[in-house]
Amino acid sequence: MKTKIVLLGPPGSGKGTQGEMLSHELGFVRLSTGDMLREAARKGTPLGLKAKEYMDKGALVPDDLIINLMKEKIASLGEGTGVIFDGFPRTVEQANALGKQVNIDLALNLDVEDSELVNRLTKRRSCPKCNAVYHLEYNPPMKKDVCDKCGSELYHRDDDKEETVINRLTVYRKNTMPLIEYYEGKGTLRTILGVGNIDEIYAKVKKAVL
Ligand code: AP5
Repeated sequence: MKTKIVLLGPPGSGKGTQGEMLSHELGFVRLSTGDMLREAARKGTPLGLKAKEYMDKGALVPDDLIINLMKEKIASLGEGTGVIFDGFPRTVEQANALGKQVNIDLALNLDVEDSELVNRLTKRRSCPKCNAVYHLEYNPPMKKDVCDKCGSELYHRDDDKEETVINRLTVYRKNTMPLIEYYEGKGTLRTILGVGNIDEIYAKVKKAVL
């Protein structure tokens, strides 16, 4: 079984959805830099306030901030812990930094076309407390605007507005897509079509991991 997994894919490709299912079933730790930064922003920490300036524009937070943040988290994990990296690395510099700490045995790339991504993100609703995600049509909460898992009120992320989503896709193509080739070169890349039923995609994800 693969135990050190990087989830790659454009914004809205389902990294959070699939990563959460996988961590829940296999007991792996899911480290989502997006969730960490949003929590820091909500708490108003210096890192969070700085990161928010970039996130609201759909830009990447500078590498040095992210690498420092992740270095400590990774160092605190036990040797045999299964880990899912969701949204990290996002640049070659981040991938090189990660590679110095951890041997990644699977880079799972979720492939979804742009028009579908825009639809998913503009209609996504997120939980500020437990980070669960919903979609108004494909995966709605049982009660409107309320998280099924923890009962908190759902919100629409600031960076899920259409113009910001389009900027995030441009940033993804320029800075993060090169990681597909990067992990292909290391022999750990696996690409899965991320379109269709969430459970069917999960079955393919699990097959790649086991
Ligand atoms: P982050 O939070 O990581 O956002 P992202 O990568 O843009 O990914 P998303 O969370 O938007 O989407 P996802 O792929 O997880 O999809 P999801 O499962 O939610 O980063 C946000 C920002 O933080 C960045 O822009 C940057 O500023 C900063 N940042 C974070 N990490 C950084 C780093 N390492 N370096 C620098 N900056 C960093 O699904 C999306 C929607 O689709 C949901 O509504 C879901 O219900 C629905 N859905 C999922 N699967 C399906 C399906 N199969 N069919 C239909 N709908 C589906």
